[in-house]
Order: sequence, then structure tokens, then C-alpha cells
Amino acid sequence: MTDDPFPPPSPTPASGRPTARTAAVIPAAGRGVRLGPGAPKALRTLGGTPMLIHAIRAMADSRAVSLVVVVAPPDGAAEVKTLLDAHALPERTDFLVVPGGESRQESVKLGLDALPAGYDIVLVHDAARPLVPVDTVDGVIEAVRDGAPAVVPALPLADTVKQVEPAAGPDAPEPVVATPDRSLLRAVQTPQGFDRATLVRAHDTVKDNVTDDASMVEQLGLTVVTVPGHEEAFKVTRPLDLVLAEAVLARRRLNDGF
Ligand code: CTP
Ligand code: MG
Repeated sequence: MTDDPFPPPSPTPASGRPTARTAAVIPAAGRGVRLGPGAPKALRTLGGTPMLIHAIRAMADSRAVSLVVVVAPPDGAAEVKTLLDAHALPERTDFLVVPGGESRQESVKLGLDALPAGYDIVLVHDAARPLVPVDTVDGVIEAVRDGAPAVVPALPLADTVKQVEPAAGPDAPEPVVATPDRSLLRAVQTPQGFDRATLVRAHDTVKDNVTDDASMVEQLGLTVVTVPGHEEAFKVTRPLDLVLAEAVLARRRLNDGF
């Protein structure tokens, strides 16, 4: 061992690898058709604050996240930039806004394309999951730092799931063909965390339409692992989800008050 008078500036964790820099890509370009008529979903408010701002804060709350790339509705990048300027956000975090695409997958790809060099870990987080707790975010980052190429927060299912066949006609009943073992099923959330090079390769290789990024990494033949998800990381999809989100915020305000 030699005495090094100039130790490396970045902290070195127990694993011995230098801490990789982490960026979060937030796809926020969807319309929110299932939520019903109104502004694009990410711009709808919860507790008076746009859902997107909640989601950005949820990422920036993690000390590991030093850049957030927001993928705005295709014609809404200017509006989103104005929103970011109008809301208090942590100063240690950088922000970029890029316009999104036709599908979630395309929007994530546009966010990845805008990512500067120097970020080795990428989180992809739905703007529609505004209330994910920071411990969940940190758990995902930790698992990527520990060497997993892809990590998803996951929860067991409450409902039993049936596999069906398409109904024979508009008035015909849908036949059930299987009941998968529920104990082996998980509902997965975001942020999903990735080794950057792996996620870029997945987006360059997989052309099927998928609903999450981890499934693209699965298609590369790599192992995706789970970490515990959180019930407050639910996706705001339908009108009832807005009621739940407002209730979660009210509970937080109450708890913060004591
Ligand atoms: N998303 C996106 N670009 C798209 C479609 C979706 O960035 N072309 C984003 C949404 O903004 C959301 C996330 O992907 O943050 C998850 O998608 P989803 O919950 O399906 O949102 P929407 O597509 O907006 O909703 P809907 O499917 O009801 O229209
Ligand atoms: Mg959608």
C-alpha cells in the first residue's frame, strides 16, 4: 500500500467501485386518455401542484440523482420549462426538457438520446407515479450499483389473475384459459433502474411495443431483478386514482404537521 496524497474525489462505497452518477428520465408525454378529458395527465394537479412536479421532486429527493430529463408532451416542452422555473426544485439537481413521441417507448428513447456523457446509471420513472417515496428510489439505485443491469420495484398482487381468450363475438363471454400461481406474480412499478449501456442497447435492439423498459432488457436475455415496491408508488391511471393520490398527500401533510 502506498500513501496517496491525492485520494479520488468521489466517495468509494464498500463494494470498492466508485459511485456512478445517476440520471432520471421521466416520460411525461402521454395524454392520459383513461383519466378522461382535460390537460395532459402529467400537467394535472394534485394538492394544487402538477403531477409532473411531484414526480420530479420524488426523483430529485434522492441524493444520488444529479440530473432529471423530463420528456414533455410533443407540443408542450416550452410549457414544461416554464413550470420547472415556477416551482422550487433542489439546486444540486440539473434539469433538461425534451419533447416526447407517439408511444411511451419512443418518449423514453428520446429522453435517453438527450442524456449527456458521464451518467452510468439511468432511472426511468413515469410522471404518472408522482408519490413514489425516496426510499424506493434509493433501493433501486442501490441494486444497480451492486451490479444488476436492470432493477424493478415490485409488489405482490392482491387480486387473483386469470388469463383469458378473446371472446368469440361482441356479446359472447370471455373464456378463462388459465390461473397463474399468484405467489409467483408481481405488479411492477417505476422507477426502474438500469446500467445505462444496457438500457441503450435494449432500446436500440427491441422494436416490439412494450409497456415497460425492463421487459426490453429481458428480451436481450439478461436477468432483471426486483426490489420491494411501495403502495404509494401506484400509477395515476383512472379518475379514482386521483382521489387516492389526494388522500395520500393529505395524510402526508397531517403526518408532517406532528
Ligand atoms: N408516456 C409518454 N409518451 C407517450 C405515452 C405515455 O411519455 N407517448 C408516459 C406518460 O406520460 C406516463 C407514462 O408514460 O407518465 C405511463 O403511461 P400511462 O400511464 O399509460 O399514461 P398515458 O399514456 O398518458 O395515459 P393513457 O394510456 O390513459 O392515455
Ligand atoms: Mg398510455
